[in-house]
Amino acid sequence: MKSWAALLLLAAFACESKPELKFDLPEIPADFPIPDSIRYLSERNKLQIELGRALFYDRGLSRDSSVSCASCHKQALAFGDGLPFSVGAHGGSGRRNAPPLFNLFFPQSFFKDGGIPRLEEVAMAPMDDHHELDLPLQELSLRLRTSDFYVSEIEKIYQRQPDPFSITRALMWFQLSLVSANSKYDNYLYNSAQVLNASESRGKDLFFSNRTQCASCHSGVNFTDFQFHNIGLNMDAQLDTGRARISNRAEDFAKFKTSSLRNLGFSAPYMHDGRYNSLSEVLAYYNRGGDGYPGQDSRIKPLGLSPSELQDLEQFLHALNDSIFVKHRVYQP
Ligand code: HEC
Ligand code: HEC
Repeated sequence: MKSWAALLLLAAFACESKPELKFDLPEIPADFPIPDSIRYLSERNKLQIELGRALFYDRGLSRDSSVSCASCHKQALAFGDGLPFSVGAHGGSGRRNAPPLFNLFFPQSFFKDGGIPRLEEVAMAPMDDHHELDLPLQELSLRLRTSDFYVSEIEKIYQRQPDPFSITRALMWFQLSLVSANSKYDNYLYNSAQVLNASESRGKDLFFSNRTQCASCHSGVNFTDFQFHNIGLNMDAQLDTGRARISNRAEDFAKFKTSSLRNLGFSAPYMHDGRYNSLSEVLAYYNRGGDGYPGQDSRIKPLGLSPSELQDLEQFLHALNDSIFVKHRVYQP
């Protein structure tokens, strides 16, 4: 009975999921640092991305066929989900805010505690997690072997039956294709078009100043150093130990991976537990010097920013929104 339901469901997807894919990633400025394998996609990688896209949007990836990756990672929200904690298979609630997904090709570790070292492995965590997809890869592989679409695509690309290798590779390639490089600030920086207005420009100077030290952690092209820091958030109400969950070291308690600051206009709420709904709340937090929770990084201290300086800083952050990315056709099902 169960396998019949799965069969019917996959059959339905097989018919739907073959739209003609015009393979243009969003424009990538010439000096934007991105691996050539993504800037100049090979035919094979385009096929991997197309297959990964079908998987990403397929609810057949969850045990009760209720949830897909895209349920928690929505394009219009820069592939975040707009909730403090995500809702997964069986209506279960997750433990952290679903982060937006883009520019995942930079070397880094994944999850707020860095618990997943490689992008290929990310898909396994929600699959095994009872609260997320709850369908281990081995079982999913068998399910996909009942679908003509997946069997023939995977045979074509990988010369094998649907299996954990092909599924995780294809999903990885779709995620690698999520390129966000078209914010106003990118345009200013890489296309040397002077597009920042006066307020954004003052905000930029504040952001990169020694006074705020924002850029000491939110550094580089993705505005993150990919390191783990304790910014002093009050953790009393939480079981989440942050980086310490992975390292088992007391000094890593309440340290979380520095968030990227791209696309914040789409990806509220903020912080690992979605505790802040607006950027002005986040900036007010930094301006008052944090909650002073044990282990707070010494760079988080009262900043004395005036209301108009806070506004400038917020305007600068909004210049990092990429409205092309959240609408681009190639990422749609
Ligand atoms: C039920 C909601 C849910 C589903 C379904 C889900 N995710 Fe996630 N995803 C999350 C949450 C929550 C996190 C943050 C986990 C953490 O930090 O501990 C996350 C983190 C990630 C990350 C890490 C991003 C980073 O910058 O560290 C990637 C990549 C990702 N998910 C991809 C996927 C893929 C691919 C699928 C489908 C196979 C998927 N997710 C399914 C909720 C979900
Ligand atoms: C000591 C390193 C550090 C400094 C300095 C710092 N941040 Fe952060 N920031 C982080 C970390 C780590 C997180 C993630 C915390 C979490 O998920 O709970 C974060 C989260 C954020 C977020 C929320 C992003 C999201 O998607 O949830 C914003 C916005 C932000 N920081 C802006 C700033 C600004 C503006 C400044 C300067 C006033 C600043 N940060 C200074 C490390 C830092």
